[in-house]
Amino acid sequence: MPNWAPSSNRPQGEGIARIEAPVTVRGYLLCIFAAFGGILFGYDSGYISGVLAMNYFKQEFGGMNSACPSTDPTAYNGRLYSTAEKSLIVSILSAGTFFGALFAGSLADWIGRRTTIIAGCAVFMAGVVMQVASTAVALLVAGRLIAGIGVGFVSAVIILYMSEVAPKAVRGAIVSGYQFFITIGLLLAAVVDHTTKDRMDSGSYRIPIAIQFAWALILGTGLFFLPESPRYHIKNGDYSKAARSLSTLRGQDVNSQYIRDELAELVANHELESKMQGGWLDCFRGGWRPSGNLRRVVLGMALQMMQQWTGVNFIFYYGTTFFQTVGLKNAFLISMITTAVNVGSTPISFWTIEKLGRRTLLIYGAIGMLTCEFIIAAVGTVAEGSATAGYILIIFTCFYIFFFASTWGPAAWVVIGEIFPLPIRAKGVALSTASNWLWNFVIGYVTPYMVDRDQGDMRSKVFFVWGSTCTLCVIFAYLLVPETKGLSLEQVDRMLEETVPRKSKSWVPRVTETERMRGVGAGAKPMETGDTTSLEREKREESGVMGENVERVDRV
Ligand code: BGC
Repeated sequence: MPNWAPSSNRPQGEGIARIEAPVTVRGYLLCIFAAFGGILFGYDSGYISGVLAMNYFKQEFGGMNSACPSTDPTAYNGRLYSTAEKSLIVSILSAGTFFGALFAGSLADWIGRRTTIIAGCAVFMAGVVMQVASTAVALLVAGRLIAGIGVGFVSAVIILYMSEVAPKAVRGAIVSGYQFFITIGLLLAAVVDHTTKDRMDSGSYRIPIAIQFAWALILGTGLFFLPESPRYHIKNGDYSKAARSLSTLRGQDVNSQYIRDELAELVANHELESKMQGGWLDCFRGGWRPSGNLRRVVLGMALQMMQQWTGVNFIFYYGTTFFQTVGLKNAFLISMITTAVNVGSTPISFWTIEKLGRRTLLIYGAIGMLTCEFIIAAVGTVAEGSATAGYILIIFTCFYIFFFASTWGPAAWVVIGEIFPLPIRAKGVALSTASNWLWNFVIGYVTPYMVDRDQGDMRSKVFFVWGSTCTLCVIFAYLLVPETKGLSLEQVDRMLEETVPRKSKSWVPRVTETERMRGVGAGAKPMETGDTTSLEREKREESGVMGENVERVDRV
């Protein structure tokens, strides 16, 4: 493998390495293109805070429905939207993405991963057109709801698609690329808002909104040229299409041994899991065993919830106003800097996520973040209003963002793409993504009540809250998150079956699923996933059903 590919250093049992072809530049680029979808997520959540602060926007959208003239100091010529309208404009997006992500879980199994993302781009573009056309709150809100549904499709299914098509050795790095594009989206939104904010025509808000059309167009069009996930074809029993997809993704001839081996492995694993129906109810079966579906779904949803409880969006959604509250000048500039630190630090994870692993990043990243948060809180409380407290706040906010961007930002997405068995993978990723948006919404909604002057007025003490929730993140990662680096998604299933999260890092795969089915390998035994009972498995093995389709692959 070329040196530039940050591949995993996890040891593999003998004969295991040949399951996947070496990573080619082309295969790598195909996956990176899919990561571009993160731009939609980042830009869409980022542009609204700047637009709300624009004078032309206040003049155009304020006044009709609210008390006019407004006495609020931030009003423009007495024109300002009401608090309820502001909260609706901001939060309706998360509501749309929440439902979009959930629905995408079914859609991705019905029409395919790639097609769902393309459909998400189309829905998103319709929402953008409505927002651009809007001159009043009602149409803007409707447009953001529709666009949110599109972002929900894209954000849930991109992770699924990338995890399924990326070669295992670089899968973490590729999915981290998605987080990188989220951060670029956030930065671009801040820059575009800054550029148009002083215009006194509709271009001030229409330009930032309209630019998003381009991201969806690029992603949607580009995906037409990418293959569908081979695992989706296998789920539908179409092995020839799965072989062709794999051949395009791995840059190997469709009849090469690499493609045959990997296909056989995918099919073998699917066979083992195929008795599970893969409906929504199946996501909650299997009990609390580490390999049970319920345990995995709770893990994925909790991981995304904890990612939000690191407090990161306090900085990205309310940073500017918070910096003003504690008396810092240049609050807007500081926010731009934190957004830039976010972009600059994420690529570190491309390498560390494969070398150090997901679990290590989550544990040490949370320790880094909580340290910064408690320092900010303590100094801010003891020396409130002092220059020292101001500098500490700026410097440690940057360190905090550095820790988030290089660890929890990417790793939370990487892990949810890896922990679900194929029959419930689409729905598991969708539920986890929906959990991200739900907590994103909840935290975004309650935070102003904690820090606003006329409400909780917590000032720097709010970082005691984030420091405490980050401490929970350390405990959560240590006890519950398994190490999935360097394993195929099929081997992850096996690992969850055979070991506990705390020991998962040293687990070494010894037998491929294909070999297991053919009875090769010492101690090879069928795996237990979800609600598949041992009795059912034994029956299927006896009747030879499980080996049947592996033989079919040999004939593809
Ligand atoms: C989180 C977002 C956050 C972003 C910041 C993502 O992983 O899910 O809520 O705004 O990172 O880069």
